[in-house]
Amino acid sequence: MKTRITELFGIQHPIIQGGMHYVGFAEMAAAVSNAGGLGIITGLTQKTPELLAAEIARCHQMTDKPFGVNLTFLPIVNTPDYPGYIKAIIDGGIKIVETAGNNPQKYLPLLKEHGIKVIHKCTSVRHALKAQSIGCDAISVDGFECGGHPGEDDVPNFILLPRAAEELKIPFVASGGMADGRSLVAALALGADGMNMGTRFIATKEAPVHENVKQAILAASELDTRLILRPLRNTERVLNNDAVQRILEKEKRLGDKITFQDIIGEVAGVYPRIMKEGTMEAGAFSCGMVVGLIHDIPSVQELVDDIMKQAESIITQRLAGAIA
Ligand SMILES: Cc1cc2nc3c(=O)[nH]c(=O)nc-3n(C[C@H](O)[C@H](O)[C@H](O)COP(=O)(O)O)c2cc1C
Repeated sequence: MKTRITELFGIQHPIIQGGMHYVGFAEMAAAVSNAGGLGIITGLTQKTPELLAAEIARCHQMTDKPFGVNLTFLPIVNTPDYPGYIKAIIDGGIKIVETAGNNPQKYLPLLKEHGIKVIHKCTSVRHALKAQSIGCDAISVDGFECGGHPGEDDVPNFILLPRAAEELKIPFVASGGMADGRSLVAALALGADGMNMGTRFIATKEAPVHENVKQAILAASELDTRLILRPLRNTERVLNNDAVQRILEKEKRLGDKITFQDIIGEVAGVYPRIMKEGTMEAGAFSCGMVVGLIHDIPSVQELVDDIMKQAESIITQRLAGAIA
């Protein structure tokens, strides 16, 4: 399939694996890129720029296809060494960066100077237009369904994507709620040039996470995610568990007076315990509503092949057949 996204990034299929904390290691990114999509290493999961450089080098050994690095600019207490991470990206020969969170403007000139294409993840049309105006090459439009940070506007993709299509000139992919060939065709129909998936890629053979995480995703339904941190205006969609219930109870009890310190035990430093050790009740972790559409653990190649086969069949048979 050829779209503006496959052309921009030099990939076979318009499928991107979004950056995921403690999931987006070299194994994940290489598997997606080898399957013809665009794999992305999560920059900040690597604790230092030197470790990111080593992870990039490891990924180069696993694939000769293009892959990217995610740089998330979120309100974190200790600001990471972004210039150091960007140097590791440039020196590592990376040509695609997925930015997310705060406006990446400060770092764009340097990235551009080195021929790096930037896809910025946004949860609103106004942020997407801003990203376009500062020179981003593409947008990942993240709807309210998404795992992770859906923003504060709560606009689902059935509205957000066509709104983005009305306004944006640069290519964009649909992110949030994407799982299969149906999602891809729907995304294209709504004006996107491809799709970005997070949660779906965790339930694959190659995803470098504990088996408990994959089984939890398989067991969950579309009713099993919750929104936390809304009173802090840093809303996150997570898989429900006891820790999430504790957070929600504190949010209810403390209202607007809640601070990060009140929930630190349930959110800080919990990713390695969940993703690596499989301690599912250790805290809150991002998960999309799309979890209700995930019923198997295929290899990444099987998943991508199935998506493309299903999308093609929907377009050429079901939809073409509906035209009388
Ligand atoms: C476990 C997990 C961790 C994530 N970590 C990050 C992250 O560190 N940075 C980021 O920009 N997005 C992160 N995301 C969001 C994904 O890149 C993607 O935008 C989102 O998962 C899309 O929604 P979906 O899960 O419905 O496919 C994360 C998502 C999940 C499920």
